Amino acid sequence: MNNFKNLRGTVDLYPDQLIKWQNVENVLRDQLLRASVKEIRTPIIEMTELFIRGIGEGTDVVSKEMYTFNDRAERSCTLRPEGTASVARALINRGLRAYPFQKLWYMGPMFRYERPQAGRQRQFHQLGVEFIGYDSPRSDVEIIILAWDLLNKLGLKNLKLEINSLGDIDDRRNFETSFLVWLKGNSELLDLDSQKRIDKNPLRIFDTKNKDTLKLLKKAPKLKDFLSSASLKRYSSIKDKLEALKIPFFENHNLVRGLDYYTHTAFEITSNDLGSQATVCGGGRYDNLIENMGGEKTPAIGFAIGLERLMLLAGDEMTKSRNTDVYIINSGSKSESLAMHLSRKLKNFDLLTELDISGATLSKQFKKANRLNARSVIIIGEDEADKNEFIIKLFNGKVDENKQEVIPIDNEKRLKNWLDENLTLKINY
Ligand code: HAM
Repeated sequence: MNNFKNLRGTVDLYPDQLIKWQNVENVLRDQLLRASVKEIRTPIIEMTELFIRGIGEGTDVVSKEMYTFNDRAERSCTLRPEGTASVARALINRGLRAYPFQKLWYMGPMFRYERPQAGRQRQFHQLGVEFIGYDSPRSDVEIIILAWDLLNKLGLKNLKLEINSLGDIDDRRNFETSFLVWLKGNSELLDLDSQKRIDKNPLRIFDTKNKDTLKLLKKAPKLKDFLSSASLKRYSSIKDKLEALKIPFFENHNLVRGLDYYTHTAFEITSNDLGSQATVCGGGRYDNLIENMGGEKTPAIGFAIGLERLMLLAGDEMTKSRNTDVYIINSGSKSESLAMHLSRKLKNFDLLTELDISGATLSKQFKKANRLNARSVIIIGEDEADKNEFIIKLFNGKVDENKQEVIPIDNEKRLKNWLDENLTLKINY
């Protein structure tokens, strides 16, 4: 008896479910290649301190959601809850001076101890993109467009892009001073969680889901009123460029994002077609992160797309898979070894082949070929094996007698001609 269950919030993905994942991932990788964004891979496990310093102690992610444990040498380790801090660490370790401008992407599992629901898991997956070293507003626009176009390329509909500017550190400090005064004056009206945040990390109060607090926050001082003229100019130029490029966006002055490292631009892309977990993509600028983590001052901006949410939204065209091109049916011990030999040869062609190794009757093997929608079958029965040959036929549930040929096992040229004529030029994806 198998009593092993998945850990809550983790899932297995089976081959039929992975068709969609692989198609979506392929589109993403292709688009990133076209945009000259290069892949980076960092470990899934890091020192806990990295995330505390990088993401911020007062954030939900760090204070409530991390998978943290001591290893055998009593070092505190954490399964990465996101990728930006790890990328920053990796780049600092390698040295930024030799690589001042980098466009990077990563894709893989992240871990957050949250309450699982549709579109929210404890092990989930992100595609992240980080533009390192770029500070002009053009890079903000570039990254927003990249995220927007990736989602559109996948056929997603009903998307909404929201943007905000969080200003720089000084703008934020000025805002926080006046926000604190307001919070202290209204503290008894806030929910308990938000009250606790007043002294720790007041900006995080904007992350609250509490309806009364959200209503009250509408009357609070607004970050936008504290942006310096330079920050405002920067923000305006981004909005102008987005308008010129006809990217539809909405300004959301309460959009502060749940991680501490953001400065200036913050943005999210949500979908009406998702339930409560509507954010498919979130990102923003983080000009101080690398310096705060011990590197040289390096401006940067990026985003991450939640792949589970993307899978919920991607359309049926992403569930199509390539059919088997050649299914090899065989019976009897001599034909089995000839079939294996042929199957190895066929792997030299750009074809999807499958050798039947079930040992079932010929008619069962035909049925399997039918179930797979195989485009052609090779048959090596005992007669064919005795004559050292095989039959190859077009197959669409029924065998097309006109398109069949008997070919000696070692006549690779005739096999290739038949495949070229009947399959290769017409491969279905
Ligand atoms: P984030 O907003 O925390 O940002 O996560 C980005 C996306 O990951 C979310 O919009 C959502 O689609 C997905 N996501 C987050 N948590 C879960 C979960 N528990 N289950 C399923 N999906 C989830 C970041 O992580 C930043 N590192 C993004 C970034 C990159 N900013 C700059 N560069």
